[in-house]
Amino acid sequence: AKETLSTEARLQEICELLRDAVPYYDWVGFYFRNGEKEELKLGPYSGEPTDHTIIPFGKGICGQVAVSNQNFVVPDVSAQDNYIACSITVKSEIVVPLFVNGENIGQIDIDSNTPDPFSEADERFLEFVNQEVAKIL
Ligand code: SME
Repeated sequence: AKETLSTEARLQEICELLRDAVPYYDWVGFYFRNGEKEELKLGPYSGEPTDHTIIPFGKGICGQVAVSNQNFVVPDVSAQDNYIACSITVKSEIVVPLFVNGENIGQIDIDSNTPDPFSEADERFLEFVNQEVAKIL
């Protein structure tokens, strides 16, 4: 039964559902602050495996969101200086921070192989997803 799924398994399902549901969501994953360290650690994800399982705060799009506490929409990753490439097929990215009790404890990260696909609707939707995720953490 669903009720017995671990948090890890639920997050995994969310990643797979999102990736299946939205044609331009090609990689969907969660990163979480790694304990007391100033770095992010990869959690559940759906898509190609990535080498970037640990990302220092400030590095790449994800690391920047860890310190800015703001959504980061990247229509064209090739135009970013502070970007960590996970796959050469990726054209764009959106990262939305995940808050628990007002604290930025991680983020949802989505890569797309489509140029400039993300709108404010994606931001609002992913903020909602993260609010729901916060309830099960
Ligand atoms: N592109 C991200 C790294 C994570 S991968 O997209 C999975 C970044 O620049 O932070």
